Amino acid sequence: MIEIHNIHKSFNGVKVLDGISGVFETGKTNLLLGASGTGKSVLLKCIVGLVKPDIGSVTFDGTYFTNNKLGIKQEIRRKIGMLFQSSALFDSMTVEKNIEFPLKMLGDMEKDERIDRVNTVLKRVGLEGANKKMPSELSGGMKKRVGIARAIAPHCTYLFCDEPNSGLDPLTALKIDELIKEITEEYGITTIIVTHDMNSVIEIGDKIFFLYKGKKLWEGTRDAILDTDVKELNEFIFSNRLMRDAKKIEDEEEETESNR
Ligand SMILES: Nc1ncnc2c1ncn2[C@@H]1O[C@H](COP(=O)(O)OP(=O)(O)OP(=O)(O)O)[C@@H](O)[C@H]1O
Ligand SMILES: [Mg+2]
Repeated sequence: MIEIHNIHKSFNGVKVLDGISGVFETGKTNLLLGASGTGKSVLLKCIVGLVKPDIGSVTFDGTYFTNNKLGIKQEIRRKIGMLFQSSALFDSMTVEKNIEFPLKMLGDMEKDERIDRVNTVLKRVGLEGANKKMPSELSGGMKKRVGIARAIAPHCTYLFCDEPNSGLDPLTALKIDELIKEITEEYGITTIIVTHDMNSVIEIGDKIFFLYKGKKLWEGTRDAILDTDVKELNEFIFSNRLMRDAKKIEDEEEETESNR
């Protein structure tokens, strides 16, 4: 479980995060949802320690991360897996070398053990045998899969994904979302996903945190999100025609139900 408390962050006097608190539960896919520029990526970076909040704290399973001793922070960092927006694979390395990289950095596995682990995670993401391929030979969806394999290779406890399905076609995007959800549940990981994709919300949003201009305006489950009275959230959701149609059908069904 990850807890954040009253996170504030400004850049050059401009407030980006304005006091955000929340609890991200273990074994769940937690989504940070919001329009472009609302501070989703900055919040994610504050949580993993890539950006230091001006005020506020982050706790990983009860251990303070922000402002704690270097040793304790490093211990937590070892448990963090991160999937970057662009997959961020090393172009000059094979798939195998890419996934082996964090294992080498951690330095607690022998070569044989590392390759075993590479093969296990490759199989888990549906890319068995792709060890010797170069990133340039992979499709966008396959690159994401390799990115996920690399993130989970060191047995991560916490998984962070920034827009994991951006740039993918809807079906591939869905498969990547489902893979992240399955892995989260199977290994009991605390997962936080940044997204602005309503399909992801409906498919895998165990818990959704809606950000608007640096504040958390709403949180709840995917079942509750279509029935909120938060104006900004409704504007965000129903800017999408498909979502408007879905809502209309749902309302009509409810009306028929209540007329019976
Ligand atoms: N290192 C930085 N220095 C200055 N400003 C920054 C920095 N990082 C982010 N910002 C600003 O903070 C704001 C929020 O950025 P952020 O990247 O978190 O948005 P986002 O919600 O992730 O948007 P998108 O959906 O487009 O990725 C933006 O106005 C951005 O310009
Ligand atoms: Mg972003």
